[in-house]
Order: sequence, then C-alpha cells, then structure tokens
Amino acid sequence: MSRARFDVRVSRTRARRFHARHLGAAVDEHDWSSLDPRAYPPHLVDRARIAWTENAFNEYCTAAGLAQMQQAMLVARVPLDLLAMASGFVADELVHVELCARVARALGGGAPIDYDPAALELEVEAAAPLARAAELVVRICCVGEALSVPLLTGAMRAAAHPVTRGVLQRIVRDEAPHGAFGWLFLDWAAPRLTARELARLGRSAAATISRYETLWEPLVGGASDGVTREGFALRHVHELGWMEAGAYQALARRTIAADVIAPLARYGIDAAARRPRPRGG
Ligand SMILES: [Fe+2]
Ligand SMILES: [Fe+2]
Repeated sequence: MSRARFDVRVSRTRARRFHARHLGAAVDEHDWSSLDPRAYPPHLVDRARIAWTENAFNEYCTAAGLAQMQQAMLVARVPLDLLAMASGFVADELVHVELCARVARALGGGAPIDYDPAALELEVEAAAPLARAAELVVRICCVGEALSVPLLTGAMRAAAHPVTRGVLQRIVRDEAPHGAFGWLFLDWAAPRLTARELARLGRSAAATISRYETLWEPLVGGASDGVTREGFALRHVHELGWMEAGAYQALARRTIAADVIAPLARYGIDAAARRPRPRGG
C-alpha cells in the first residue's frame, strides 16, 4: 500500500479554461475573504478546517466512485439516457472538492489527510456486469448520495455565513440528481436482476449504511441556550457550516429509514436485515 497526502491540485493549465463553467464560476462567486477565522475561537476554527478538508476528501472519493460506477454501467450496456444523466456527476464532485478546499483555505489552510490512492477503487463483490453496476449504484447513489442530500440540506439551512451557506447551496443543488439517479437506475435494472443478486445488493447496502453510521459521532453539539457542550457559541458553529450534532444525528437516522431503506425495499432490496442497531436509540 502506498500512502499519499491528500492535496487539492488546482492547476492553471489551459484545461481549466474549458471548465470555466464548472470550476471558475463556482469558485469566483464567493467572497472568500469575508470568512474571517479571527472571528471565531482558534480551537473551533481548527475543527472547521479539519472538517472542511475531510469534506473535500470525501467529495474526491465520491468522484472516484462515480467514475468507477460510470465505467461499470458502460460495460453493462445500461441505456444511454441513464449513462448520459450520470456522465456529469464526476465534474460536479470536482467542483465540490475545490469549494470545500477553499473553505478550509479561507479558515487558515487544509488539514493533513494521508490515504492510499489505490483504495479509491471500490471492491465489488458481484461478477456479472449488470450486478456489478447495480452494486456500485446502490452503494454510491441509493445509500451515499440519498443520505447526503437531506444532511447537506440541513447543514445548508443552518449555515449562517454567506460563504458556508453559498457553498452548501451549490453542493445541494448538484447532489439532488445524484440522489435521484439511483432510483431511476433501479426502475430499469431491478427487474433484470436475479433474486440472489437483489439479496446481495441488500447486504451491500446494509454494510454501506453501517460505515456511514460511524460518521455520526458527535462533532460539535449538545447545545442549550445557544452554547454547545464544549462551550462554543451555536451561532459560530452554524456560521462555520455545521448543524448541531444532536439534530444532525436525528436527521441522519430518519433519512436512513425513510429515504434509503424504505425505497430500496420497494425494489426488493432488503437493507434492514442483519444491520447493527444504531447507537443512542
Ligand atoms: Fe458532492
Ligand atoms: Fe454527489
């Protein structure tokens, strides 16, 4: 395994001009200097820098997953309308990488994240081309993106600074079709999958949900009277782009049940079986 330090390589090659519509416009519309780290306690700014760097890294991982998903769908000869819809998703995620990295930079710079670049390629259990594509769509879109859309929307509504709010608005706008895609794909693919393949999709979805649950450990929370358990002003927490942790976790649990497990069940995919119970009720 070879490790690498995650860094956002924003190049100024001529290629960037071709992507002005994506990268340039999205980045230039924010007044980055208005997000002043001196307005917040240094310890909270450090946490926010780490969180926004992790957001950038997660967006990068999603870009890699979506690229792999696209290739698997091409191999599986998925209909062109579905292929065309998903073909812009990677570019969306690259915009999100840069936006999140810019927030971290505005707050004083990105935090170091070491990772194995080869691990960006997801291991897929299924062998048949359509089942492989379906496994990736279910894990990335039906679980990952369907879960992230309401959570990002919650964070966007709580975001109390024009920069964090604007960045989250852009991300939410792009993510909605990513979340919707999984169900459009399953409309077409689910009737073509065997009972055994559907059962495997259920296990795969359940495992993906379990991995997300570890992300819901309290970040900054337990607020009462406008102050978090750690003594941070809730207003600062919101300006830096977080929801209060208790509200975030409650929303995540509701979303898993209503927007992931229930719709998957309608396609004969049981993601509730043998799933560890979430902690804290
Ligand atoms: Fe994204
Ligand atoms: Fe996305």
